[in-house]
Amino acid sequence: MDMSGLPPLAVAFFHLCLLLSSSSSLRVLVAPDAVEESTGRNGSRTAYHFQPAKNWMNDPNGPMYHNGLYHFFYQYNPDGVTWGNGNLSWGHSVSVDLVNWFALDAALQPSRSFDANGCWSGSATILPDGSPVMLYTGIDARGDQVQNVAFPKNASDPLLVEWVKPEYNPVIPVPADIKRDDFRDPSTAWLGADGLWRIAVAARVHDVGGATLIYRSKDFLRWERNADPLYLAHAAGMVECPDLFPVSEPGVEVGLPASGAGARHVLKMSVMDTVQDYYVVGSYDDTADTFVPEDDDDCRSWRRLDYGHVYASKSFFDPSKNRRVLWGWANESDSVADDLVRGWSGVQTVPRKIWLDEDGKQLRQWPVEEIETLRSKRVNLLIPEVNAGGVNEIIGIVGEQADVEVVFEIPALEHADVLEPNWLLDPQSLCGEKGASVPGSVGPFGLLVMASGDMQEHTAVFFRVFRQNDKYKVLMCTDLSRSSTRDGVYKPPYGAFVDMDIEAHSGIISLRTLVDHSVVESFGGGGRTCITARVYPDHVVNGNSHLYVFNNGTGAVKVSSLDAWEMATATVNVLPDGLIAASSVSRAQAY
Ligand SMILES: *[C@@H]1O[C@H](CO)[C@@H](O)[C@H](O)[C@H]1NC(C)=O
Ligand SMILES: *[C@@H]1O[C@H](CO)[C@@H](O)[C@H](O)[C@H]1NC(C)=O
Ligand SMILES: *[C@@H]1O[C@H](CO)[C@@H](O)[C@H](O)[C@H]1NC(C)=O
Ligand SMILES: *[C@@H]1O[C@H](CO)[C@@H](O)[C@H](O)[C@H]1NC(C)=O
Ligand SMILES: *[C@@H]1O[C@H](CO)[C@@H](O)[C@H](O)[C@H]1NC(C)=O
Repeated sequence: MDMSGLPPLAVAFFHLCLLLSSSSSLRVLVAPDAVEESTGRNGSRTAYHFQPAKNWMNDPNGPMYHNGLYHFFYQYNPDGVTWGNGNLSWGHSVSVDLVNWFALDAALQPSRSFDANGCWSGSATILPDGSPVMLYTGIDARGDQVQNVAFPKNASDPLLVEWVKPEYNPVIPVPADIKRDDFRDPSTAWLGADGLWRIAVAARVHDVGGATLIYRSKDFLRWERNADPLYLAHAAGMVECPDLFPVSEPGVEVGLPASGAGARHVLKMSVMDTVQDYYVVGSYDDTADTFVPEDDDDCRSWRRLDYGHVYASKSFFDPSKNRRVLWGWANESDSVADDLVRGWSGVQTVPRKIWLDEDGKQLRQWPVEEIETLRSKRVNLLIPEVNAGGVNEIIGIVGEQADVEVVFEIPALEHADVLEPNWLLDPQSLCGEKGASVPGSVGPFGLLVMASGDMQEHTAVFFRVFRQNDKYKVLMCTDLSRSSTRDGVYKPPYGAFVDMDIEAHSGIISLRTLVDHSVVESFGGGGRTCITARVYPDHVVNGNSHLYVFNNGTGAVKVSSLDAWEMATATVNVLPDGLIAASSVSRAQAY
């Protein structure tokens, strides 16, 4: 059947119905409180970011593509809105398009001595026969962090609802030289030339630093540790959620770590001390199983996947579209009391395609193209120029659920203010000192989103250009200082320099911002610099949010193009008839 004429949601439902009819184990439950929460779009619940119907969510786990379906798992507390560390489970949802998601029973829940105190983060590996295997961290009955495996009960079940934890778990106990609570987050496994599987596991090596240890196995049962770690970050304490993947040539992605001459890899680590995700391009030696960064060896000076509020990201290779896709957890940043009222906490960034830039040094990130199926009403503004102090409203779409793409052109770069070299060290503070209301020569210019009618509340996403000798530096900021009039909300400035030669790009720089109620997710310079922020404006309870393009610099800025779309509400863990398929609530009704 050709479904190209149907709206994407209908296609998604069609696929789901096929799945439902082919699966006996999907159970659908009525959860009235959650239904109300997830259909009312007032307040901060998102409309197209991934979140469970209710309760706490943190790290993305085990994302994979299997038999035509995307599976997404996540750290989930089935009993509450806070982390609830003893009960952490793997929430599980499936999708045909990475946009609309259907919730299934939790895939892993604490049930055995080797995970009695929680099923923590881990990763999926697709075996050569096409069946998946999960490696995850269990907090065992003694409180030790151990690594376990789990297999689908029935690999032919398209939904992979039930997972089996073999008796022989844990497959990797805590090594003697590692503290019991410093050993976790197994990566996706990859196959070496010697036919052995490898995984990376994060561990703190006492007095030395944050390590990613390598284990090898031929059967996923017996694992042996390599004497050398994959990488040792002396400057970091504990690192988490290591991710290693190949980036053989700029723009070309491959599946399992490719080895051999000229192969290059990206190592990503989540550094606990700073609660930030860093990555670096380097070379991975597949014989020694070690990774050497091409740049600086101090992970704190590595690039960040997101300069906003994102942690514990995880990627997977999507063979159906030959791309690598990444999610990251964006936590709430108002109060726990607010979380309790809302009934949920935590969202994921939109799935992002990631690839190596032409410069061979940085990753580029962009919302997966499927997100564009949600674009509905479009406005296309012709604003030739925004003059000094200019503010132009983008009228005609719902401002709190939008996708905005704007291309700016700076006619006279040479007027840019001179950069003081020490500003390069701390762009985040620079964004704080030079916020949207501090005029410069070239910039600040950008978007004002989630703005109240009286402008008392707004979030500014903007650029500022500086001159350094005969080069230009572009600063990108998301300034939350006026994002909400509420107290007790985290409102930092976020910022980073965009690593591109704006002069070579004829003074042109683009900005794409996804606005989704409490999420402002921005991609600067074609996805070279990403900043995700969480915002909690007061005005959305009773009124609409406005969108503007602005320029608070003294020099004019051209707007080469501006397209804004209202975004449709995706079906995220809600079924069409208002039923929610949830995990640990009592089973009211079976399909
Ligand atoms: C939003 O809240 C207002 C005021 O409480 C209410 O009138 C309106 O129906 C709500 N809208 C939605 C979509 O829940
Ligand atoms: C963990 O689960 C138990 C049993 O369901 C529950 O009583 C307890 O409150 C939960 N703990 C947290 C922190 O959610
Ligand atoms: C496994 O799943 C397939 C597809 O849903 C089904 O036909 C088969 O009966 C299942 N096998 C068992 C043992 O449940
Ligand atoms: C969550 O948000 C708070 C701000 O409210 C921040 O300080 C903290 O580091 C965040 N945690 C994670 C894991 O991102
Ligand atoms: C632009 O600057 C003026 C003067 O500092 C300030 O009043 C106004 O709020 C600024 N606009 C934005 C969007 O910050």
